[in-house]
Amino acid sequence: MSARVAVVTGAASGIGLGVALRLAEAGHAVALLDRDGPGAEAAAADLTARGSRAVAYEVDVADRGALERTFAEVRTRFGPITILVTSAGIESFDAVADITPEKWDHILAVNLTGTFVCMQLAVPDMLAEGWGRMVTISSSSAQSGAPHMAHYVASKGGVIGLTKAFAREFASAGITVNTIPPTIVDTPMARHAGEKGDVPSIDVLGAMVPVGRAAVPDDIAATTAFLCSDDAGYITGQIIGVNGGMYI
Ligand SMILES: NC(=O)c1ccc[n+]([C@@H]2O[C@H](COP(=O)([O-])OP(=O)(O)OC[C@H]3O[C@@H](n4cnc5c(N)ncnc54)[C@H](O)[C@@H]3O)[C@@H](O)[C@H]2O)c1
Repeated sequence: MSARVAVVTGAASGIGLGVALRLAEAGHAVALLDRDGPGAEAAAADLTARGSRAVAYEVDVADRGALERTFAEVRTRFGPITILVTSAGIESFDAVADITPEKWDHILAVNLTGTFVCMQLAVPDMLAEGWGRMVTISSSSAQSGAPHMAHYVASKGGVIGLTKAFAREFASAGITVNTIPPTIVDTPMARHAGEKGDVPSIDVLGAMVPVGRAAVPDDIAATTAFLCSDDAGYITGQIIGVNGGMYI
């Protein structure tokens, strides 16, 4: 497989970290973007120690200007960006009556607008190269609905829609765009929600999954790496379930 340049958002933790590892193992140069700068630095240092090309950037995906500068720096350092995986995201549990305008705007700014801006910034390189792979990390909650998550669910539904729109707009240009909507993945985000009592614990939820366990980040990362490969060139605009046989 050709070595490419990948940008992964939310790469300091959980699914994004797992994706960065997989893409580095596949031989790609990886830029790890996260608002957690030290976490991204530690992950990039680990990849570099394993012989990969990796660099970390502390960036808030809700900050368009910061993303524009970061994408330009990645391009200068490694070359055209032809793989993008958007995993940066936040969740919040609030009854509909408690969703203030500020909470709504914040969730949408990070999860939806942040994803859109990254995708928009990656398109020119992919068009110039005649090859591109985008994978967005959405959520099965956007397929099933979820109580106390109207803002989050709306943002992730938007990500699914964005994915389909980009897929159709750029299908003839060699660019594929797909989304993975996880259900239950054992990450700091999911553990935190369980500890706060917003959702049942990972172990309880995992037991409800037909395969008998929650996903680990590498379950999502392995499929993501495949979707970013040359072999996946005929898959676009798809919602790829990596959910152990269930979505809730
Ligand atoms: N874990 C699950 O069960 C699950 C289920 C469905 C969807 N998801 C989605 O998967 C994605 C990854 O979540 P995870 O479970 O790995 O969580 P996580 O909290 O372990 O990782 C998310 C990463 O995103 C970063 N991040 C958050 N806001 C950011 C911002 N504004 N700018 C830059 N970076 C930011 C965090 O610092 C963190 O490193 C999220 O979009 C989440 O909504 C997760």
